[in-house]
Amino acid sequence: MVKDWVRWHQDYETPDSSLSRRLVVVQEFLVRALTEAPAEPGGQRRLISLCAGDGRDVLPVLARHDSGRTVRAVLAELDPALAERARTTAGELNLPHVDVRTGDAGLIDTYLDAVPAHLVMTCGVFGNIGDEDARRTIAALPDLLVAGGIVIWTRGRGNGSADPSSRVRAHFAENGFKELAFTQPTDARFRVGMNRLVGDSSSARQPPRRLFAFA
Ligand SMILES: C[S@@+](CC[C@H](N)C(=O)[O-])C[C@H]1O[C@@H](n2cnc3c(N)ncnc32)[C@H](O)[C@@H]1O
Repeated sequence: MVKDWVRWHQDYETPDSSLSRRLVVVQEFLVRALTEAPAEPGGQRRLISLCAGDGRDVLPVLARHDSGRTVRAVLAELDPALAERARTTAGELNLPHVDVRTGDAGLIDTYLDAVPAHLVMTCGVFGNIGDEDARRTIAALPDLLVAGGIVIWTRGRGNGSADPSSRVRAHFAENGFKELAFTQPTDARFRVGMNRLVGDSSSARQPPRRLFAFA
């Protein structure tokens, strides 16, 4: 059964929900990334958000912390209602350089024109795809980023004995990323990571077209 992602977003309306707490961390990481990510000589940056939802992690942060409107953001979201919400929010926040695409973020063709990016967000992705897809997606991130580019990601703790975020962190380490930050609250099941590409950017290389599909 296809999950109701509009309904999933309702947890954001409860201020002390795990999802709301996760949002605070993701936004804090993005604020930091905006000061630490590389930029073009003119100061411009490209950001890609995969499975962007209604964009509430990215859009308010750009409105507050990118006053020069230097970030060109592509938000890829499959659900038309959530994508439309993100478009409306971008308009309300006066963010003309935000391009919300109603499309499949598992296919890199959806945002290939924004590659190589300075920032990539994969929040709410790795917990919804298989480990092989997560491994393939992380292995392709050096193809999507400039050298020194930053990825912000999340992963749920789940109920098993092993914390699956360990595998995500290992995949990043194996693919030329240094961990800049990692949060794992003792009283919540979300994890948020921020990693910088310190290995070579391989944006001249052709990455696989299909990175993942939601399970
Ligand atoms: C767990 S939510 C995360 C939303 C947002 N990134 C956040 O953290 O608030 C997953 C989102 O991925 C979207 N989605 C699922 N499969 C997708 C795909 N193949 N391409 C783009 N978006 C997809 C869903 O509609 C949903 O909005």
